[in-house]
Amino acid sequence: MSEVSHVPVLLEEAVAALNVREDKTYIDGTFGRGGHSQAILARLGVRGRLLAFDQDPAAVSGRALEDPRLELIHARFSTMQEALAARGIHQVAGVLLDIGTSSPQLDDAARGFSFAREGPLDMRMDNSRGPTAADFVNRAEESALREVIAEYGEERFAKQVAAAIVAARRVEPIRTTRQLAEIVGRAVRTREPGQHPATRTFQALRIHVNQELEELEVTLPRAAALLAPAGRLAVVSFHSLEDRIVKNFIRDRSTADRLPRGVPVRAKDLPTPQLAAIGRAIRASEAEVRRNPRARSAVLRVAEKN
Ligand SMILES: C[S@@+](CC[C@H](N)C(=O)[O-])C[C@H]1O[C@@H](n2cnc3c(N)ncnc32)[C@H](O)[C@@H]1O
Repeated sequence: MSEVSHVPVLLEEAVAALNVREDKTYIDGTFGRGGHSQAILARLGVRGRLLAFDQDPAAVSGRALEDPRLELIHARFSTMQEALAARGIHQVAGVLLDIGTSSPQLDDAARGFSFAREGPLDMRMDNSRGPTAADFVNRAEESALREVIAEYGEERFAKQVAAAIVAARRVEPIRTTRQLAEIVGRAVRTREPGQHPATRTFQALRIHVNQELEELEVTLPRAAALLAPAGRLAVVSFHSLEDRIVKNFIRDRSTADRLPRGVPVRAKDLPTPQLAAIGRAIRASEAEVRRNPRARSAVLRVAEKN
């Protein structure tokens, strides 16, 4: 297992947004190497509780933190309602999601996330189950490859990349990260400054393999349902596809239903929305981006349960 650590992004901002109260129960949906969890525990009192999830077996077995108030659960964060119900917990005071990949995942060649390191084309955050990126790349219809690469990678050359993958796999199966990076590199004609031509395709495959956008879509309403009144939801995301889901969710849940014109109802009689948006999107400071380039695309959004 990789010993590389993970530098948490927007740590102070995200934990401050949770408004941690000493004796309450919190969820960290993305434990990683425990940076955010540690900061939450530092604000909790002896009777407080933190349930942390990670789908990566290495994050859970690595157990970066030992604390009697912390329970670490190997599961997807979309299962938080069942996991908490099984422990007799039906409400929490805050949920934090710091989505995306961790540095140990990206830096470990054996996990297959990086085009810069030769390794098996895996990309599963939970590498104990489910199909790998190689399974998808070698078996999917060309149209499915094209759609995933266009939609999740926002790759202009998705058609050419999908065709190149299908042509290459007729010769031999695509098994490694470098093999795929070379195939993609030949199909993507223009280079974005400072970016490897396979960046967008690798991002797309990772999102697809881990069902990242579906996880976020189903989890936001579940997290909101678990919050007690005045409970906080704080989400850090790393690209615009994720941020759009979070932004729209908070907007929809914090706006009263619009009634048709002419319906005789006063504003004060409208049902209260489930959430209130807290502030605007928060981005990393220049100083943080200088220290940690991964923070460049991070966005934190916060909502409170009404
Ligand atoms: C950006 S890292 C979190 C880093 C963490 N906040 C820290 O301070 O170390 C994201 C983590 O979330 C996990 N993850 C991503 N999607 C997940 C999901 N749907 N369910 C559970 N864990 C997930 C990844 O395995 C990874 O370890």
